[in-house]
Amino acid sequence: MLRSLFRSDMAEILELEEAMHVAPWTKETFEVCFRSGYIGWVLEANNRIIAFIIISLQREECHVLNLVVARQYQGKGHGRKLLEHALQYAKHHGIGIAYLEVRRSNTRAISLYRNLHFSMVGERKNYYPIVGGTEDALIFAKSLVDEFP
Ligand SMILES: CC(C)(COP(=O)(O)OP(=O)(O)OC[C@H]1O[C@@H](n2cnc3c(N)ncnc32)[C@H](O)[C@@H]1OP(=O)(O)O)[C@@H](O)C(=O)NCCC(=O)NCCS
Repeated sequence: MLRSLFRSDMAEILELEEAMHVAPWTKETFEVCFRSGYIGWVLEANNRIIAFIIISLQREECHVLNLVVARQYQGKGHGRKLLEHALQYAKHHGIGIAYLEVRRSNTRAISLYRNLHFSMVGERKNYYPIVGGTEDALIFAKSLVDEFP
């Protein structure tokens, strides 16, 4: 089931975040998202959150800030479903373009974004901390004008 993300989901999404990200967001980062009015959705199975997405809508732009699918549920279309839902929501709120950032090594996420017709528009060198160094961020963008009628 797909539904909106609420502040009361904090414990579950924090658990997912910590399990799935190399440098996970902290509880404080999620608090900032809720305080800032960012928008999110979750997917549930058996009354447990198995995936979530958080976006911000600023001026004419949608920024995809976080997207996580629990390991045992990956590769089943859940990431795609959440991302498509978020982009559709943005489009229906008059947003013309979506941006996101991804680690250069995150091939799974990058193929999802390319499948949804995101194109690489830039990069930030040494942007993400990793154990023993840093990693580049790739910036992807997608026009929402022609898709999601
Ligand atoms: C990236 C992530 C959100 C993808 O979610 P997912 O539910 O596994 O992806 P989906 O099943 O919706 O797959 C969508 C596309 O992703 C790609 N993909 C999925 N599983 C893949 C795999 N094992 N290997 C390579 N590509 C894969 C495919 O291109 C797939 O397209 P298809 O449906 O046409 O085959 C998920 O792997 C994840 O949570 N990863 C850890 C957190 C993360 O990296 N988030 C993104 C930060 S930018």
